[in-house]
Amino acid sequence: MLTIYRILPPFPYSLFQQHSTRMSQRKILVTSALPYANGPLHMGHLVEYIQTDIWVRFQKLFGNQCTYVCADDAHGTAISLHAEKQGITPEESVALINKERIRDFGDFLVEFDNYHSTHSEENRKLSEAIYLKLKENGHIASRNITQAFDPEKQMFLADRYIKGECPKCGADDQYGDNCEQCGATYSPTDLKNPKSAISGAVPVEKESEHFFFKLSDFDGFLKEWTRSGSISDEIANKLAEWLDAGLQDWDISRDAPYFGFEIPGEPGKFFYVWLDAPIGYMASFENLCQRRDDLNFDDYWKKDSDCEVHHFIGKDIVNFHCLFWPAMLEGTGYRTPTSVNVHGYLTVNGEKMSKSRGTFITARTYLEHLDPEYLRYYYAAKLSSRIDDLDLNTEDLVQRVNSDLVGKVVNIASRNAGFIKKRFGGKLSANNMIPELTADFQETGSRIAELYEGREFGKAMREIMALADKANAWIDEVKPWVVAKEEGKDQELHDICSAGINLFRLLMIYLKPVLPSMATKAEAFLNVEPLAWADSQTLLLDHEVNKFKPLMTRVESDKVDAMIEASKEVLAKMSEQKPAETPASNEWLEKEPVAEQINFDDFAKVDLRIARIANAEHVEGAGKLLRLTLDIGEAEPRNVFAGIKSAYSPEALVGKFTVMVANLAPRKMKFGVSEGMVLAAGPGGKELWILEPHEGAQPGMRVM
Ligand code: 2FM
Ligand code: ZN
Repeated sequence: MLTIYRILPPFPYSLFQQHSTRMSQRKILVTSALPYANGPLHMGHLVEYIQTDIWVRFQKLFGNQCTYVCADDAHGTAISLHAEKQGITPEESVALINKERIRDFGDFLVEFDNYHSTHSEENRKLSEAIYLKLKENGHIASRNITQAFDPEKQMFLADRYIKGECPKCGADDQYGDNCEQCGATYSPTDLKNPKSAISGAVPVEKESEHFFFKLSDFDGFLKEWTRSGSISDEIANKLAEWLDAGLQDWDISRDAPYFGFEIPGEPGKFFYVWLDAPIGYMASFENLCQRRDDLNFDDYWKKDSDCEVHHFIGKDIVNFHCLFWPAMLEGTGYRTPTSVNVHGYLTVNGEKMSKSRGTFITARTYLEHLDPEYLRYYYAAKLSSRIDDLDLNTEDLVQRVNSDLVGKVVNIASRNAGFIKKRFGGKLSANNMIPELTADFQETGSRIAELYEGREFGKAMREIMALADKANAWIDEVKPWVVAKEEGKDQELHDICSAGINLFRLLMIYLKPVLPSMATKAEAFLNVEPLAWADSQTLLLDHEVNKFKPLMTRVESDKVDAMIEASKEVLAKMSEQKPAETPASNEWLEKEPVAEQINFDDFAKVDLRIARIANAEHVEGAGKLLRLTLDIGEAEPRNVFAGIKSAYSPEALVGKFTVMVANLAPRKMKFGVSEGMVLAAGPGGKELWILEPHEGAQPGMRVM
């Protein structure tokens, strides 16, 4: 029988505590963001799908009823243009991509219970019903707006389909919402010499009627919901900036031609893709309910449902999921999400994915060279519940996988399995010679479960590897290979090797959400039914195992190099693509501007000084900032807010010397005035280091 363990708080969701104390089986619906159907999956996408899949697999392994749904996000201009380029209809293009997707996800062991499409009948019906309900409840307004119009294509142009010269730096061929050269954001009317990116025609201005969702009707509700425990404080603090500034009506309609659903009663007007995209979560689930007797749509989506709904998303789409979506659900009488879990962006080798460096790696190119479980483990080892960006460092991946999985975990089995087969006919001993160590392994299981539940996968992997270290240290101490050569020590050898294999089995249970394929191979070797979390409370005694076969091979660096080379070739063939329909002028994007060249005089203007950090402290309500008091030898110390909280505790900084830009114009921030900037390097998150000068440097010294 399956035992459901009680897990101790703290937990991110109050519901979890309710459920865990009742010790009942939780009913959980989980989603990942629906990927746009206009290009291949890549390493960046996979952060989210692997993160979600690990969480879902953990829930299932733990004994909860967990259902994971997703779909292609099929609507919008980008998708129809993508199809047009290939000379096929959007429906045909979406169907082709859907096939590719399902294969890629499957090969990365991302196991959906359903993968649907937003261009489906279920989604049409739900989107229409939700819109009509919002309208009936008075939450829809309409008014005329003026927009850029392509006279040749006879279509309205979203900002990113207008190109021209950047109003700030003059760079040519920039999109209508932001400049990729200098990072400036602006409105398309500011562009010089604007042209339609679709036909090249000069856009004209044209008026048309649009429909709006009155988000401000939900102001009070959203202020409460964002603090209800469904999202982290880090995200809630960010959203508070928008909520405090006052919510704007949200434009939910687009004029024909548009690939999407026509708005009921409004011929020629279509739902904006972002209206029907999150409804696609419901639609995919509804589609699954039609073929599953044990799932009921209303049980999960009715108000006051005792089932859970968890969304996993990237930080660029927080406003859609934590403002618009809960408001839509509230406005139509559905339940709101139990949690929205937000992750950061991926960098590869410390930088944004780049086609020329070969670090824009598609899922397929990766699979042609490397084992998907290497990536699953690597991402797991680096993921946390925070929105820190994650760096895929290819050398680190090789090193970590080889050292942790091959060197530590597989090694435990391979060191013992041979003796069991050759000397004891494949049978494990009936005796457990290390009750204390096995008890330690078993007790640590609840801590590991807590970490999985709270999406602290990196910490979970460290706990598991610490156990693997203990197992290896014990084997080194008892030396089965020496005992094997000694006369009359058969029983001892049998007990040692059996204990080693039992420790390996416990580790494989804990790693199973991350490494499902390796776990299946381990189950075949151990000659057991698929392992569940509760099996960690038992041991395999007096049990026959099968012949041991290698469970995972070492990552070879030359395969990684070959993958990077292949990525350069694949991407050279792919056309430049802007992400579909998600506006780039979003503060969550934190785009890094491409540095333009400066001359020596520009450089000489920057007054870099050695600063002593006299004090450092947390800033209440700021997710990323620390307040630093910097001594640069002037009468008054400088007050500087630095975004380094993810990497340093205040105590660790006090007394350190660093480098600051001393003549940066003071900036008024939400928390006070910042009088300069400290210099730090690294991809972000925990991997961020302030610059520390050598001894001898004194506060106030000029950096040259
Ligand atoms: O940003 C994106 O890639 C969108 N296609 C995500 C949609 S998530 C959900 F709302 F459908
Ligand atoms: Zn510019």
